[in-house]
Amino acid sequence: MSNDFPASFLWGASSSAFQIEGGWDEDGKGMTVADRNSFKRSEIQADSKVASDFYHHVEDDIALMKELGMKAYRFSVAWSRIIPDGDGAVNQAGIDFYNKVIDNLIAAGITPLITLYHFDLPYALVEKYNGWENRACAKAFERYAEVCFKAFGDRVKYWQVHNEQNLMMRVDERMNLEIEDLHTKEKVRAQMDYHMFLAHALAVNKCHEIIPDGKVGPAVSSTVTYPLTNKPEDVWAALMNNRMKTDYCLDVHVNGEYPGYYMEYLKSQDTVPVMEPGDAEILKSAKNDFIAMNYYRTLTARYLPADAEHPAGLRLEGMNEVDYNMYGYFQIEKNENLKATEYGAQIDPTGLRIALNDYWNRYHLPLIITENGLGTADELTDDGKIHDEYRIDYMRKHIKAIADSISDGVEVFGYCPWSVIDLLSSHQGFKKRYGLVYVNRTDMDLKDLKRIPKDSYYWYQGVIRTNGKDL
Ligand code: BG6
Repeated sequence: MSNDFPASFLWGASSSAFQIEGGWDEDGKGMTVADRNSFKRSEIQADSKVASDFYHHVEDDIALMKELGMKAYRFSVAWSRIIPDGDGAVNQAGIDFYNKVIDNLIAAGITPLITLYHFDLPYALVEKYNGWENRACAKAFERYAEVCFKAFGDRVKYWQVHNEQNLMMRVDERMNLEIEDLHTKEKVRAQMDYHMFLAHALAVNKCHEIIPDGKVGPAVSSTVTYPLTNKPEDVWAALMNNRMKTDYCLDVHVNGEYPGYYMEYLKSQDTVPVMEPGDAEILKSAKNDFIAMNYYRTLTARYLPADAEHPAGLRLEGMNEVDYNMYGYFQIEKNENLKATEYGAQIDPTGLRIALNDYWNRYHLPLIITENGLGTADELTDDGKIHDEYRIDYMRKHIKAIADSISDGVEVFGYCPWSVIDLLSSHQGFKKRYGLVYVNRTDMDLKDLKRIPKDSYYWYQGVIRTNGKDL
């Protein structure tokens, strides 16, 4: 099949505020949950204090993006730069910083695509309300979104609300879930999830109200799960793994209500969240314009029966903190047909084609890939360069899978690999690098933070120049 990308295809790259910016408390910025979590590991690895120091490299980094030929840049705004304590006074210095970023992008011919919330809830909201557990957090988010739409909406037309609500929910640290009793913990988690859905819907409606030509949608961490065998119960387990970890989230965003399978699960666990009168209408009224998906790998599952000691719905630790198992539903297994990265992500370009086809057929909304990439320990060679042919191979195959999906009839309007430059990995500091550009620092040594384009940068430049013909 030929690689036919639309002329308007948004070739881009991605980042998030706490992973790239640094300047974590400069010009009035408040601490976030992401900062706090990274500080817990400061003794052993890089934290968000300096990160890639984008805060002080805006012009130079955007010049590199321009040279790469990027048509779009997907990045996030730190809520606590705009409103340091989450729901109090607006910090003009924060608005000025993002104005500078946006204006530089536009001058470079790059379309900004903003995520409002990428794992970095203002920590003050945790202290005040235990964050998303409280409905006040959803209202605070609506106000924050409104401030951003009013400040930037004249120039920014693409918006993502939450980054990976579905994945964030699985990671206790990101949600600040420090509760011993399992049932209470799951009840609080479900309530937090609900308030985030409400906040999402409120923000979507605000976006349409304030930016008439604005486009807004969710960004999910996609899950494609294969059954370990062709036993019908394994096929069911694979389906349930997709539903419980990703599909329920998209279903709520797009259909404006909890799908039956998820509501029944919540009822069976006695964790149905408190919903107020009028909420159902808010959820229903929010109309997303597109779906953004982050895609890294696929999963494989087998059926995990419940028993007297392990009731259905009980979570069991999995291969890592994201991929939990659940009694009565699924257990995650290795896929012997796929190679994995050194961090265990099973590399699978065909899975991207499956996800794109699946989401398109289910929701009929245009799709954009806002994350996809290979995290590894790149090493500078004696010639002062990074020869990352493994990343080129990864990207080439995934871009080909997008081209195939377009030939399948799927509407895909952009590709923003993770990440534009090296940045703080959400768990592994600077040991695990994803960037198209090397940032010269290690976990414990800031060095000179020099930017060095990797081989993948020059390769991707050619891909963009030929609109995907030259892979
Ligand atoms: C995505 C997140 O889930 O995965 C990013 O949106 C994150 O913030 C990326 O960096 C890669 O994960 P990690 O843990 O390797 O940094």
